[in-house]
Amino acid sequence: MMGEITVIKIGGSVLTDKSKERTLKLKEIERIAKEIAYAGLKDLVIVHGAGSFGHPQAKRFDLDGNGKCSYYTLITHEIVKELNRIFIEKLVQSGFPVMPIHPLSCTVSIKGRVKKMMTDQIRLMLKNEIVPVVHGDVVMDEVLGRAILSGDQIVSHIARCLNAKRVGIGTDVDGIMDNEGVIDVITPKTFCNMKKLLKGSKDIDVTGGMLSKANELIKLAEDGIPSHIFNASRKGLIMNFLSGERNFGTIIRGD
Ligand SMILES: Nc1ncnc2c1ncn2[C@@H]1O[C@H](COP(=O)(O)OP(=O)(O)OP(=O)(O)O)[C@@H](O)[C@H]1O
Ligand SMILES: [Mg+2]
Repeated sequence: MMGEITVIKIGGSVLTDKSKERTLKLKEIERIAKEIAYAGLKDLVIVHGAGSFGHPQAKRFDLDGNGKCSYYTLITHEIVKELNRIFIEKLVQSGFPVMPIHPLSCTVSIKGRVKKMMTDQIRLMLKNEIVPVVHGDVVMDEVLGRAILSGDQIVSHIARCLNAKRVGIGTDVDGIMDNEGVIDVITPKTFCNMKKLLKGSKDIDVTGGMLSKANELIKLAEDGIPSHIFNASRKGLIMNFLSGERNFGTIIRGD
């Protein structure tokens, strides 16, 4: 039986070194896999970003604009799949039952927004106590030919489809920050005033870094699903999130 679903995203900023193309943070991947396994949550969907296994390649091949060459689409897809495979391997080694899901094979977008994503297999995995591990990907797009879907957009799409109870966004900063530090709570009302503080990423990020992340999560909050941005590079915070704690990071909620 599927209970209340939690969706957690682990940023590519945490799993990889985003300043160096195709560079893993293997020790971090191992630690994160152990934390997730230790928390032992079954009704969980894991999504991960691409980090340096996708963003630099997509940028070089101009997939964020109007990339034409199918070979480059393939390369970008293959490299993020490589990261997915390694993360899956570490989760399995930690004794956690997982399966990969590749959006290219089950999703179509229109102007860079998900039009249709098959989620039946996700539901069946959860029913069978298998945790799906989905990732940001390049997908076929009805208008653009192909488009990059961020892990953040995939998180909000899956959270809506499965009516998730909790959404956690692990990244490499302590939350959404202003000049004074981490902002505890953001609502659609307060978001208008602080939008100007939000930027892209310090590294290459073809999907718009913190600004698009926040935009995605504000829309999700308006639809009644709150989310929690926190620093997954800090030991223990993934565990804390998965066990229901809230006293860290930034909470994005409806009001
Ligand atoms: N106001 C802000 N508060 C916090 N971080 C911000 C802010 N504005 C911009 N950022 C940037 O956003 C980055 C996090 O977004 P980024 O897309 O790089 O990570 P990610 O989503 O975890 O990785 P990936 O996209 O590979 O999954 C931070 O490292 C920081 O450089
Ligand atoms: Mg990002």
